[in-house]
Amino acid sequence: MRIGVAKEIKPDEYRVALTPAGARELVDKGHDVLVETTAGEGSAFADADYERNGARIVSVDEVWSETEMLLKVKEPIASEYPRLREGLVLFTYLHIAADEPLTRALVESGVTAVAYETVETEDRRLPLLAPMSEIAGRLAAQAGAAFLEKPAGGRGLLLGGVPGVQPGRVLVIGGGIVGYNAAIIAIGLGAQVTILDRSIDRMRHLDEILSGRVSLVMSSTLQIESSVQDADVVIGAVLVPGARAPKLVTREMLKAMKQGAVIVDVAIDQGGCFETSRPTTHSDPVYVVDGIVHYCVANMPGGVPITSTKALTNATLPYVEEIAEYGLVRAILRDPALARGVNVLDGKITYQAVAEAHGLEYTPLADVLPLTPA
Ligand SMILES: NC(=O)c1ccc[n+]([C@@H]2O[C@H](COP(=O)([O-])OP(=O)(O)OC[C@H]3O[C@@H](n4cnc5c(N)ncnc54)[C@H](O)[C@@H]3O)[C@@H](O)[C@H]2O)c1
Repeated sequence: MRIGVAKEIKPDEYRVALTPAGARELVDKGHDVLVETTAGEGSAFADADYERNGARIVSVDEVWSETEMLLKVKEPIASEYPRLREGLVLFTYLHIAADEPLTRALVESGVTAVAYETVETEDRRLPLLAPMSEIAGRLAAQAGAAFLEKPAGGRGLLLGGVPGVQPGRVLVIGGGIVGYNAAIIAIGLGAQVTILDRSIDRMRHLDEILSGRVSLVMSSTLQIESSVQDADVVIGAVLVPGARAPKLVTREMLKAMKQGAVIVDVAIDQGGCFETSRPTTHSDPVYVVDGIVHYCVANMPGGVPITSTKALTNATLPYVEEIAEYGLVRAILRDPALARGVNVLDGKITYQAVAEAHGLEYTPLADVLPLTPA
């Protein structure tokens, strides 16, 4: 298959959808890999790195028009809509339930759009979102530690303490992928860590893997109200699937917190779980409300593109290989997780939540494609 890798042109996006190592794997399996010139630059991969591994460096026009499958990181932006076309499989993060113009552009163009974020396994895991949650969680603990420093606006506390001086306290609300990863870095820094979650099964699992190294407490309004008062860093990491994040920490609760404490609201991409959160950017990551430092960067993994690009490719490559080897239709037949990734096919919306979000017609994938082998 002819596989293209487009350069990301969305502002502040430095990731790329394939590493040179990934290109090598595809080339070795007999595929043709076309990489747009300087696509890897933001992630420290030069054109020559791709060429050495068998890829061809091409222009933006070629990468969009000459390929059968195009790999990207972010959704196409308006200037890219005219490049969408029938016969192309676009594999990328799409998030189109929140983007009607893009949804219409995908439908009208006839492109096949497969979204990373809706690839979902039988046991309801989202394998192509997980690596970004891992990164955001680990960064959250680092951001908490950094903004606790006095010159950065924080209390002026070393999270790990030193012999003879108590460490700081980190409260993690939501012990899923983000929360677990935040906790292990905070533990590594030497902090005292508490995780609140609502799922007893999840807490049992965390107890098995972290036993003794964190306090695990059932989440409730009362518990949150009391725990935030002791915390030096509070990390918001909740997710309620398909819904906006619940506002678990109110402005009123901030008044009882320590002055200069740091809030890191990772759930900001779902609206945030602190009443006082609003999205920020890497270039201007924090602001202060009632003496509490708020860090609410909506695309945290974008700050570490070298790591994010490699983690993303590790997760996407097996699916890219499936599509490349079998073609999209047979790949979908073999792998129901991949089938759930198909959002638009032949001008029809095949992902129910997307159609419902825009009041457009939903067509089950099985009605567009024969989902049993011929
Ligand atoms: N800002 C960023 O750059 C960025 C990057 C990746 C993920 N995220 C966001 O981080 C959030 C967490 O993602 P995840 O992958 O860890 O999700 P996850 O589903 O793995 O974990 C969410 C956890 O929250 C728990 N939870 C739900 N309601 C709760 C409550 N009231 N109190 C305590 N816990 C509660 C759930 O039981 C679950 O364990 C999501 O909103 C996700 O979109 C943001």
